[in-house]
Amino acid sequence: MSSVTDLRYLITPGGSLTGRLRVPGDKSISHRSIMLAAIAEGRSRISGFLEGADALATLAAFRAMGVEIERSDTGELQVAGVGMRGLKSPEGPLDMGNSGTAMRLLSGLLAGQTFPVTLIGDASLTRRPMRRVTEPLARMGARILTSPDGTAPLRIEPTPRLSGIEYPLPMASAQVKSCLMLAGLYAEGETCVIETEPTRDHTERMLTAFGYPVRRQGSRVCLSGGGRLTGCRLRIPADISSAAFFLVGASIAPGSDLLLEEVGINPTRVGVINILRTMGADIELLDRRVAGGEPVADIRVKSARLHGIRIPVDQVPLAIDEFPAIFIAAACAEGETLLSGAAELRVKESDRIQVMADGLTRLGIEAEPTPDGIRILGGELGSTEAGEGAIDAQGDHRIAMSFAVAGLRARGPIEVRDCANVETSFPGFAELSAGAGLGIREFQA
Ligand code: S3P
Repeated sequence: MSSVTDLRYLITPGGSLTGRLRVPGDKSISHRSIMLAAIAEGRSRISGFLEGADALATLAAFRAMGVEIERSDTGELQVAGVGMRGLKSPEGPLDMGNSGTAMRLLSGLLAGQTFPVTLIGDASLTRRPMRRVTEPLARMGARILTSPDGTAPLRIEPTPRLSGIEYPLPMASAQVKSCLMLAGLYAEGETCVIETEPTRDHTERMLTAFGYPVRRQGSRVCLSGGGRLTGCRLRIPADISSAAFFLVGASIAPGSDLLLEEVGINPTRVGVINILRTMGADIELLDRRVAGGEPVADIRVKSARLHGIRIPVDQVPLAIDEFPAIFIAAACAEGETLLSGAAELRVKESDRIQVMADGLTRLGIEAEPTPDGIRILGGELGSTEAGEGAIDAQGDHRIAMSFAVAGLRARGPIEVRDCANVETSFPGFAELSAGAGLGIREFQA
C-alpha cells in the first residue's frame, strides 16, 4: 500500500509526553482472532480489535470466504464461525495488503481447503520471502505456487490430504510456526514445531481459548489435526509494539511521565521493556492481570538517562518489531549500542537495518549497519531539510513512527516522508501522540 500521494509528518522539536492513553489493539492477536473465530463453531465476540489496514485485510479475506462478521457501535466484532470445513471459495484473489502475518498464516490455514485461492499483496509484501512457509507446507502435502523468486502471489491449490510433520524452525519466526500449526489443524496426525528460540505464542494461547488442545514441551509445540474450535469471547489487549513508540518517546523526552493502559505483556513480546530497562529506562508495570488468555498491565514510563548496551541476542525475537524505536533510544543514549543476530530485520516491511541507518545518519548520528545488526553511537539528533531532505520511511509504518518520536529530542524540525502505512498498525497515531505532547503535523506532499 505504498502511497500514491505522499503522507508526511512534520515534527516540531522538543516537548514531553504526559497523561494517560490506550494505544490500539494488538495486531498479531487481531489477525488470529478473526482466523480462529471464522473456523470455529458458533459465535465469537471480539473486543479491542485493531481496525488498522493489516488486520482489516484479514477480516475482508474471511468475509470474501463467506464468513459473516458484524461490527457493533462500540467496535465489538461478532463473528459467525462456519466451522473447520465451512469456508467458501472466494470470487477473486485475497489481497493481504502490507501484511506478512496475514499472508503467511493464511497460507497455512488455506492449504487444507477444498478450493483454490490466490493470495496477493502490495509492493512491499510482494518482495518478502514466502518459501519459509511454502517449503514446509509442501512437505505436508500442500500445493502452493509462488513466483520464481519464492514470493507472492501465492496460488494455493486444493490437495487430497495434508499430513502432520515434525519441523525444526530454521529461523525464529512466529509466523512460520503459526502457519504450520494452522495447516496442522487440517492435517492427518500430529504436527510439531520445534523452536530454536521462543517466539510469540499467541496462536497457541488462542487455540487453547477456542478449546483446541495444544501440547507444549519445552521448545516443542504440537497439535493433532481433525479437532474442532468452539466460538468464544476475546478481549484484545493494546499492542506493545505500538506502545513501544511511547516507551521510547517518554524515555528520551525530559519531563515525561506517561501511563499506557492495558498493554499486552506476553513474555514472548516484552523484549522492548527488557532492553530499555537495561539501557536505564524508568518503566513500571502496574495492575498486572490476565485478559483473554493474555497477560496485560498498565505501563508507567518516565524520562530517564539512557546508556548504550550490547543488546542480548536472546532478546531479539522478543523485540523483533520494536527495533526501529529502540534504535531511536540508542541514538539518544550515552555511548554505543550494538545489535547482532537480527538479520530478520532486513526482510520486514522494509530493510529496517538499512532504512533506520540512513535516517539516523541524516540526523547526524553515527549508525553503522552490519549484515545482522547495527552499531549506533548516541549523540545529538539534528534536523532535516524539508522536501527532498526529509527522512524516507520507505512505506514502513514502524520507521515512520520511530522518526516521529525522535523529534522529541531533535535540535530542529524533522520531516518524514512516505508515512501512509502507519494506518496498517496504528490508525490515529498522529492525534494520539499529539494529545500526549508530540509536536506532530500530518500533510500531503
Ligand atoms: C508476527 C511475527 C513476527 C513479527 C510480525 C508479526 C506474528 O514475524 O515481526 O510483525 O503475528 O506472528 P516473524 O515471526 O516472521 O519474525
